[in-house]
Amino acid sequence: MSQPHRRTVVVLAAGEGKRMKSALPKVLHPLLGRTLLGHVLAAAGPLGADRTVVVVGHGAEQVRAHLAEIAPDATGVLQAEQLGTGHAVRIALDAVPESTGTVVVINGDVPLLRTGTVDALVTAHEGEGAAATVLAAEVPDPTGLGRIVRDAAGRLEQIVEERDATPAQRALREINAGIYAFDLARLRAALGKLSTDNDQGEEYLTDVFGLLVSAGEPVGVHVAADHVETLGCNDRVELAGLRRLLRDRVNEAWMRTGVTILDPATTWIDVTVTVGRDAVLDQNTQLRGATVVGAEAVVGPDVTLIDTVVGPAATVLRSHATGAEVGPGASVGPYAYLRPAARLAEKAKVGTFVEVKNSDVGPGAKVPHLSYVGDATIGARANIGAATIFVNYDGVNKHRTVVGDGAFVGCDTNLIAPVEVGAGAYVAAGSALSQDVPPGALGVTRAPQRNIEGWVLRNRPGTVSARAAEQARAAGEDASGGSPSASEGEAIHGGAETV
Ligand code: UD1
Ligand code: CA
Repeated sequence: MSQPHRRTVVVLAAGEGKRMKSALPKVLHPLLGRTLLGHVLAAAGPLGADRTVVVVGHGAEQVRAHLAEIAPDATGVLQAEQLGTGHAVRIALDAVPESTGTVVVINGDVPLLRTGTVDALVTAHEGEGAAATVLAAEVPDPTGLGRIVRDAAGRLEQIVEERDATPAQRALREINAGIYAFDLARLRAALGKLSTDNDQGEEYLTDVFGLLVSAGEPVGVHVAADHVETLGCNDRVELAGLRRLLRDRVNEAWMRTGVTILDPATTWIDVTVTVGRDAVLDQNTQLRGATVVGAEAVVGPDVTLIDTVVGPAATVLRSHATGAEVGPGASVGPYAYLRPAARLAEKAKVGTFVEVKNSDVGPGAKVPHLSYVGDATIGARANIGAATIFVNYDGVNKHRTVVGDGAFVGCDTNLIAPVEVGAGAYVAAGSALSQDVPPGALGVTRAPQRNIEGWVLRNRPGTVSARAAEQARAAGEDASGGSPSASEGEAIHGGAETV
């Protein structure tokens, strides 16, 4: 019985990525929910390696900080000077002197690589007892890549960098993907023999293959079924191309699980997102981070959700949300802005031009129009009238507002926190409330209305309004209508007073 192979993963991430023209190290550029490096580590994760070593160099501190966040078990090893991929692997292996078995080396800039492909590479390599196996791919345009050079019998002879290749070798379209499996002991020995006798004066990892072949060691080539997985990223144009390819891959996977995506070309779903069955994603929808969309929810068009949970059968239309929760059957938008800890319970409604932050909107409660809800608790089935502002900030501190179940807040109200509107209470439109309203009471803070008769004719003569007022007065003198009797509604204004 052979021992299971011990495995070490080495990710090469020390390069600058000059052509990115960026202050950010290349491997930290984001791509649909992970960095380039994050994608590579995610693909390698299921291989069950005992050790993962990431070679860092350019922007080492930033890359290490990122590693601490996404892969705390990985070891960052510094390659102070970028003297080539062979040099980088040598430094990585120096950090794991006790390791044996298989080492999987992956360039840090191949984010579309799938676990299944690297797993197949490693399985073939270990099954054949090879000293080294390279992942190769037939590509339409091999420009800039290392070529797989085979002998007449089809066996790997060497890997040649384009800049060192003969014209005949350059014509080859089978390329080195920059992903390899090695027998660690034999790799270690071969790395000691690398020269820098090439166009760049670097130690090339790829030269290990020629050395092993010369020494009569068995080496293999594993051809990727889908060359797209091997695409690297050298500049931002390529990054945008990879983003489109990954978008299509992600969208296709969700459609196959029963999600309707009306316009896959404008729907961008991070690889970290979850979408439920029979959800409908309309045009121009972006789902990012830890976002979860429940079954039968309808999201879009024109929606961005970041780290937001949307419950089953909820609706989100032309809105932006970050760190929010939208309950089952709730409705958001059009044009709502949900900020962190905006929590909408089942069947709540947050409508047009409404901003909600750090607030609970109760089951079936409604905030339909033009409001700001900050640091509030709104009870079940309460109704918040248009243009209500939860005045949560006194310039120094934030305070909470509580609106009880079934309360009714009239339009254009300021609820000046801390303040509480009791269950079933009413607040008269236009109030600026700074004292609690007991349950079932009506709170009103408006000044009594005054009507100053004849003001327009005296102060705005000759205007459109004055002419209309003249006509209305003439018409009124013809008719004999009296003014309607005071309604109950007027009584709450504290009695009509005219001056
Ligand atoms: C490399 C391969 C090439 C292959 C291509 C696939 C070599 C010599 N060539 O070329 O055959 O077709 O990848 O994309 O390996 N890195 C370090 N330290 C260094 C140099 C590089 O960590 O000193 C890292 C880079 O950050 C990058 C990876 O190694 O993630 C590959 O380096 P890069 O310079 O991009 O190699 P290529 O020229 O693309
Ligand atoms: Ca490269």
